[in-house]
Amino acid sequence: MPAMDSSTRHLTGRRRRFARLLAAAALLGAGTAEASTAADLAAQYSAAAQRPANAAQGEAFFTAKHGREWACASCHGAPPTRPGQHRATGKPIAPLAPAAEPARFTDPAKTEKWFRRNCNDVLGRECSAGEKADVLAWLMGLRP
Ligand code: HEC
Repeated sequence: MPAMDSSTRHLTGRRRRFARLLAAAALLGAGTAEASTAADLAAQYSAAAQRPANAAQGEAFFTAKHGREWACASCHGAPPTRPGQHRATGKPIAPLAPAAEPARFTDPAKTEKWFRRNCNDVLGRECSAGEKADVLAWLMGLRP
């Protein structure tokens, strides 16, 4: 029956398109998951800085003041394996170390937003890719 043939062909085509869609979604999903761990973010910052991250430098950067009122540690504590407290508002801040707070660094847009805001507060400029890589390398090595 020609009518059935054509509808079967149609179905097969749809199924093939659906399979391709699933494969694309799986790839996309994998890409998102990759970009959403602290380790992958750190690797991206390192690549942008064109040098390996340095955890000791990250600790020094995080705990020092940079010519202004606050250090990163002023709000996040040091080591930030425990909750911090916002210096201005007094609001509690969940630990920054991913081992202490698994939700940390799972949303690159959030991470970028706060790096921008906090670096401007602490340094009066954005942090460089190298500075972000160093801080992440240090945070990733911290154990609660
Ligand atoms: C004035 C207080 C304050 C200072 C100083 C501060 N932060 Fe933050 N930081 C916050 C708050 C508030 C958040 C958002 C709430 C949260 O994520 O718990 C945050 C979030 C972050 C995040 C987002 C983490 C994620 O989950 O992706 C990063 C990264 C970060 N801060 C890094 C820094 C660095 C680096 C410095 C120093 C250059 C710094 N912060 C200094 C208050 C501060």
